[in-house]
Amino acid sequence: EKGTYDHFMLKEIDEQPFVIRKIIQEYQDENDNIKLDPAVRQAMMRSDRIYIIAAGTSYNAGLVGKQFIEKIADIPVEVHIASEFSYNMPLLSKKPLFIFISQSGETADSRSVLVRIKDLGHPALTITNVPGSTLSREADYTLRLHAGPEIAVASTKAYTAQIAVLFILAVDIAQAKKLNLDFDPLQELGIVSSVMESLTDQKEEYEKIAKEFFTDTRNAFFIGRGVDYFVVQEAALKLKEISYIQAEGFAGGELKHGTIALIEEGTPVIAISTQENVNYSIRGNVQEVAARGAKTCILSIKGLEQDSDTVVLPHVHELLTPLISVVPMQLLAYYAALHRDCDVDKPRNLAKSVTVE
Ligand code: M6R
Repeated sequence: EKGTYDHFMLKEIDEQPFVIRKIIQEYQDENDNIKLDPAVRQAMMRSDRIYIIAAGTSYNAGLVGKQFIEKIADIPVEVHIASEFSYNMPLLSKKPLFIFISQSGETADSRSVLVRIKDLGHPALTITNVPGSTLSREADYTLRLHAGPEIAVASTKAYTAQIAVLFILAVDIAQAKKLNLDFDPLQELGIVSSVMESLTDQKEEYEKIAKEFFTDTRNAFFIGRGVDYFVVQEAALKLKEISYIQAEGFAGGELKHGTIALIEEGTPVIAISTQENVNYSIRGNVQEVAARGAKTCILSIKGLEQDSDTVVLPHVHELLTPLISVVPMQLLAYYAALHRDCDVDKPRNLAKSVTVE
C-alpha cells in the first residue's frame, strides 16, 4: 500500500536505502563475509565470458554490472538488449554463462533468449525480484533482489537492487579467485545506503531543479562519461517514460559527432560527473553546450566538485557511484511528471511487465 505517499514511485524511491541494507543482510554470513550460493560461484568461475541479457532499466543496470564483473572479478562481459539478441545472436565464446536481469522475471523478450540458449545447452542465472517467476524457474540458478514488490511502472528500487546484487556477485568471484580487493565491499554498500537516505531527505532541492529545467520543455539531454554514461541513459529513460519529455542520455564525447546540432537556446542539459578520470572532459562538454545556449546543470561528487555545481553528492566508493547518482535523477523525473500532471505510476502506453515480444 501507498501509506502516506501520493504515488508508489516516490515510496519506492524512498525505500532504496532500506533495500540496500536488506541486500547486505541477505548476502552476509555470520562472520560478515559475503554469502552466495556456491553453485552460482562455480558457474561464474567455469565461464570464459558472461552474457548479460535484459530490457529497459534492467539493461541499464546490466551496463553497470559489466563494469563490476570486468573490473572486480576479471571476467569479460557483454551486455545485450534481449529483443535484439533473440534474432541477432553474436558469436558465443566456448564457455558462456548467461545472466538474465529482470525485476518481474516475466519479460517475454528475455524469456525467448533463455529458451534459445537452453536449447543450445548453456547455463543461465536469473537475477530477479520475483523468485517464482518464469525466468527464475527456467534458469539453472537464481539470485534474489529482495527489493519488495515494485508497483510503479517506472523502475527505481529494482535498478539499485540489481546493481547492488551484481556488485556482491562480482566481489564474491574476486574473493574466490583470490584477487586483491582494497575495500570492504559490504561496508562500502552500507555507506551507500546512508548516503541514499540523505539524498531522499532533500526532495525540495530536486523538485526545484525539476521545475526549473523541465516545466515547459519538449526535450532534454543527459550527458556523462564512463559509468556516468550508463546512469544518464537510465535518467533519460525515467524522464521520458513518465513525463513524456523527449529525453536522451549521451556519452559526453559523442555530442560533437552529431547531437550537439540539437542544442538551442534554453535546451536542458544535465551532466553527471562522479569519475575522476573524466571529470575534466565532461566539464568541457558542458561548456560546449552552454556556449550554444543550453541551460546546464552539473551533478558531481565530493572531491571532484567545483563551486558552480548544482548538486554535490557525498563521497562513496568510485565503483558504486551509480547507486547514488541515480537517486536525484529518479526524483527529477518524478517531479517533472508531477508538475506536468502526468499519471506518475501508470504512464500511458506502458505495462509493468512486458509479457509480449
Ligand atoms: O521486469 P523487467 O526488469 O524484465 O522489465 C524490463 C523493462 O520492461 C523495465 O525495466 C522498463 O524499462 C521499466 N518500465 C523502466 O522503468
